[in-house]
Amino acid sequence: MLRTHNCGELSEKDIGKPVALCGWVGARRDHGQLIFIDLRDGYGITQIVFNPERDKALHKQGEMLRSEFVVRVEGTLERRPANTENDRIPTGRVEIIVTKIEILNESITPPFEIMDAISVTEESRLKYRYLDLRRPLMQKSLRLRHKVCKLTRDYFDSKDFIEVETPVLTKSTPEGARDYLVPSRLNPGMFYALPQSPQLFKQLMMVASLDRYFQIAKCFRDEDLRADRQPEFTQIDIEMSFVTEEDIFELSEGLMKKLFKEAVGVDLKTPFPRMTYAEAMARFGCDKPDTRFGMELAEISGIVEKSKFKIFQEAVKSKGRVIALAAKGCGSYSRGQIDELTEFVKGCGAKGLANFKVEKGLLTSQIDKFFSKEELSAIKDASLASDGDMVFIVADKERIAYDAMSALRKLLGNRLGLIDEKRFDLLWVVDFPLFKYNEEGKRWESEHHPFTSCRPDDVKFLDRPDDLRNVRSRSYDLVINGTEMGSGSIRIHEKSMQERIFRIIGLGEEEARARFGFLLDAFKFGAPPHGGVAFGLDRLLTFFVGCESIRDVIAFPKSQRAFCPLTSAPSHVDQRQLDELSIRIKK
Ligand code: AMO
Repeated sequence: MLRTHNCGELSEKDIGKPVALCGWVGARRDHGQLIFIDLRDGYGITQIVFNPERDKALHKQGEMLRSEFVVRVEGTLERRPANTENDRIPTGRVEIIVTKIEILNESITPPFEIMDAISVTEESRLKYRYLDLRRPLMQKSLRLRHKVCKLTRDYFDSKDFIEVETPVLTKSTPEGARDYLVPSRLNPGMFYALPQSPQLFKQLMMVASLDRYFQIAKCFRDEDLRADRQPEFTQIDIEMSFVTEEDIFELSEGLMKKLFKEAVGVDLKTPFPRMTYAEAMARFGCDKPDTRFGMELAEISGIVEKSKFKIFQEAVKSKGRVIALAAKGCGSYSRGQIDELTEFVKGCGAKGLANFKVEKGLLTSQIDKFFSKEELSAIKDASLASDGDMVFIVADKERIAYDAMSALRKLLGNRLGLIDEKRFDLLWVVDFPLFKYNEEGKRWESEHHPFTSCRPDDVKFLDRPDDLRNVRSRSYDLVINGTEMGSGSIRIHEKSMQERIFRIIGLGEEEARARFGFLLDAFKFGAPPHGGVAFGLDRLLTFFVGCESIRDVIAFPKSQRAFCPLTSAPSHVDQRQLDELSIRIKK
């Protein structure tokens, strides 16, 4: 055996024992004659000491050691002298007095120091990911990821679910992003799509009577990347037969409760609160509200529609919305601060940002002359503004007004320190609309995906084009602190209803057959009622680890440009490979 222990486990109870450790040379401190080295491995750090008074030759060897050399040391474990202990690490009360050292491998000087508090570009971290992953925080992150996967598997196993793998070379599934395509050599001109999710296969498994399926599944989506999105990410994917929404909520809440408790020691209260989509939009302007702080939005279209202020009037007339937000204690914001927020909402598509100061119970503004006393007072009441606040207002198309104000609310919530970072607010958003209107394409699309069923009370609206926006679906999202963590629905299981929905979203019979004929065929053979949900594993882990970016919980992630600086993927391929695939690259 090369080692008796790892670098994270020795403690006072081992004092006096002869030990052998292997690891990497980390931080080094020379104190007079003594050399102290942090010997590091994936489990922790142990201090090793070279003392020339005990062994001169050995001390000379100690001087030769450089950062990231891989070494094996033998020695005896001793208590650190009084007042030199380090209680921030578990091994901080002991040290090894080296009696033998062996260099197992040398290292060139690393591009950055291997420690947590380093300032290094992400490009460099990803290029040398194998070094970045040596950092204790990254080790913790990947070990926690493993633990969460294991807990997940144990949870589902205990509830009679089975994990089934689904194909990675498959056909496009519509989750709303572009597909990654893979050319088929054996079928020139044809392509597989990498799955955006296992959606259709999990539904087919229900037809196959598997009853309770889960999978920790890789998904691939070619979409614009953000801090919480990766082109290749992992879902905890679930499907069940003969269930209602309540069964899925109960199962999911049990999973979350277990993961939060066992991964990060947080007790969650169940059942989680539920909020309808309509309420979430009205109060927070978005379908994934951060409920850890107040400062809610107020729609004031009805109050200002008859005011003399043209911009508000016209917005209401053209079926837009006028939305107000009372920014707590921001009444003394300078012109410069207001201009900055105006630019911010413009970045969200809004045309401008009106502002009203609240002083002595009254709203004052450069534009207050366009409003009656009653209107100003009603705006103040509706937005729950009080002295010292600043009421910000955006009037625009519904989507833009809500997007801009919800983003402004989040920005101010952070800036004003209104968010309790230790708190976890989990809630279900329910009663989503089944369809959304695509203004550019002038057509209806599925809000979730086209396999979502609609609320029985709303089936009657499916034949009335003017009522389509009022059709509610049987879908639900799990939201944590303003992030969409999961999404699912009770599915359509009847062929005729599935075909009807395809027709509404403009999928002709032929196209529906070409893309989803296999599902429609399966539905002819007695598909059971079924439903499911999928949670974003990477997103969940960013909460557990407490990091900003999803990339910090994935071993080998892609950059914001969907590029891998480590392997340089994607990259050019040989002409021979292209020829075999019958592919010609356009110059
Ligand atoms: P949906 O598309 O909402 O639903 O995805 C489910 C969850 O997956 C996570 N997620 C992502 N995480 C990282 N990077 C991405 N690019 C990314 N896209 C999505 C989110 C999201 O809530 N088949 C349905 C589920 C179902 O109906 O059962 C689906 O995939 O946390």
